[in-house]
Amino acid sequence: MTAAVYPGSFDPIHRGHLDVIERAREIFDRVVVGVLENPAKAYLFSAEERVELVRRSLPPGSDVRVRRFSGLAVGLAADEGATVIVRGLRQISDLDQEFQMALMNRRLAPRVHTVFLTTAFANVYLSSSLLKEVFALGGAIDEMVTPSVAAALRARRSASVAPVATTG
Ligand code: PNS
Repeated sequence: MTAAVYPGSFDPIHRGHLDVIERAREIFDRVVVGVLENPAKAYLFSAEERVELVRRSLPPGSDVRVRRFSGLAVGLAADEGATVIVRGLRQISDLDQEFQMALMNRRLAPRVHTVFLTTAFANVYLSSSLLKEVFALGGAIDEMVTPSVAAALRARRSASVAPVATTG
């Protein structure tokens, strides 16, 4: 029985992440998505919201578990009894940072293996930061995320519209 963790920021989750989760589940018996809570980082959505959006984006009946974590990804793996850390790779430019992380994780926990899954062609240019930028500038993002995430983004935008100040 091989358990895998898939750590990430998921701010918010998009279809590229979901593709990786689905394929990870095809390979591993148990998959836990770990949503990172890093106080030094500014997120659009809180850790609770990001966890909730991942849960709501998974297909009905999915047995993939979603939880938040802080600290090291290898700590998450140890916590979950997982021997695999899954990461998605979109383009060669991802590899530099991912390789560094994988080697550091290997140094920290030699028995935990990093497995890279490639993303579908349709998601090669998809990232949470690009999709937030496109959304902020009024672009269509509905094909890139689930309806729950699209609704959360819209709600966040309406909530952040400050009332217009009137003078005189
Ligand atoms: O979705 P992201 O932002 O690309 O995910 C990055 C993440 C969460 C996988 C990475 O920042 C991480 O593992 N953070 C936990 C801290 C840690 O383990 N650092 C050492 C790895 S080099």
